[in-house]
Amino acid sequence: NAALDARARDILIANDRGGYTIPTEGLYPYQWNWDSAFCGWGFSTFDVERAWQEFDTLFSGQWPNGMVPHILFRQNDPDYFPGPDVWGTEGIGPIPSGGISQPPVAATFVRSVWEQNKDFGAERVAALLPKIKAWHAWFMKWRTSSEGAVFLTHPWEAGRDNSPDWDSSMAMINPEGVGEYSRRDTSHVDPAMRPTKDEYDRYLWLVYRGRERRWNEEELSRDRPFMVADPTLTFILLRANKDLSFMMNAMGMDTSEVDAWSERLMKGAQSLRNPDTGLFNAINLRSGEHTGHVTSATFLVWYAGMEDQASLEAIRQELANNTYPIPSLAKTSPLFDGMRYWRGPTWAIMNALIGIGLQDMGHQEEAETLRIRTRALIAEHGFAEYFHPETGSPAGGGTFSWTAAVWLAWAS
Ligand code: DGY
Repeated sequence: NAALDARARDILIANDRGGYTIPTEGLYPYQWNWDSAFCGWGFSTFDVERAWQEFDTLFSGQWPNGMVPHILFRQNDPDYFPGPDVWGTEGIGPIPSGGISQPPVAATFVRSVWEQNKDFGAERVAALLPKIKAWHAWFMKWRTSSEGAVFLTHPWEAGRDNSPDWDSSMAMINPEGVGEYSRRDTSHVDPAMRPTKDEYDRYLWLVYRGRERRWNEEELSRDRPFMVADPTLTFILLRANKDLSFMMNAMGMDTSEVDAWSERLMKGAQSLRNPDTGLFNAINLRSGEHTGHVTSATFLVWYAGMEDQASLEAIRQELANNTYPIPSLAKTSPLFDGMRYWRGPTWAIMNALIGIGLQDMGHQEEAETLRIRTRALIAEHGFAEYFHPETGSPAGGGTFSWTAAVWLAWAS
């Protein structure tokens, strides 16, 4: 569809702030980590140079400890809260930023862009590999459980801000002393599509705590009030790490350390399997309990290069239960809320990752069903941040960069 292709390109171009892309005007006025990586993938379909620029600017915010922050605040924008002054990271990284990371999809998109533009890409890839490796090393050092699963220390770190996967851990936090603050997200979009005040208090409480410790991981690791092993981060890092190894190998670099990380992550991924449901879910590491929720992250198992029969049966069931792509929380859950962010809505990005995984692992039919449904969803309802999984109604921010990127690179 040439008109929609053009529209998607226009969205990326309009959200380009000169070498980096914002997710959407107003609601998200900075460079977000995994959004940016998706944008690089999207740009590569019509402007490869601009794609490499996106990856370069993302990694230009990398901290000395290897962490690549979830937001890079390249200029102050009063439209967003909590901004750079709240995070208090000045002087730690090269650019004012958040103090936490986000799902490391970058290596996978770097590999994809490189494989499609071999002649043009080799130098750019060679420059990025040590940075990607340092980032993955940071995850391995500071974010892996004793079993080898990747955990988050803040709900924003997994990207799935208000997923029910964090509920039991969030309930263990008493957000004392957060005081008054004024949210900006709910002035851009309907509050019914966003996290609640109770959740927001805890998001901020965790930010204040990190700021007090100057985001020093050694100090933060002494006692973690929020620590959830997560299929999003575990499956995505495992996949990214294998793609990193592939690229390093192609460049004649030693991959033994990186391959050992993949081994460890593979074991960690197995620890996420819920003994009751047989499916992969999050674990509240403070209580040891599996959350039991079937979310879109459950179905990233193939994306990680793993095969699993129980998950295959479950995704077939999900496809049969829905006309739109996989929702962020199964409709059968009593907590399902079709408009509220990560508690039900369907997201093009998650479906793209699930679809890529299914395709890679030989589940062509399911992959194609997901792709066609995602394409129809966007074609009928626009380039929204996310969509109601039963009606397709667009929700959250409009003219959203990563939805446009997924359209260009995968769905169309
Ligand atoms: C927000 O502000 O909602 C973001 O998800 C934080 O990264």
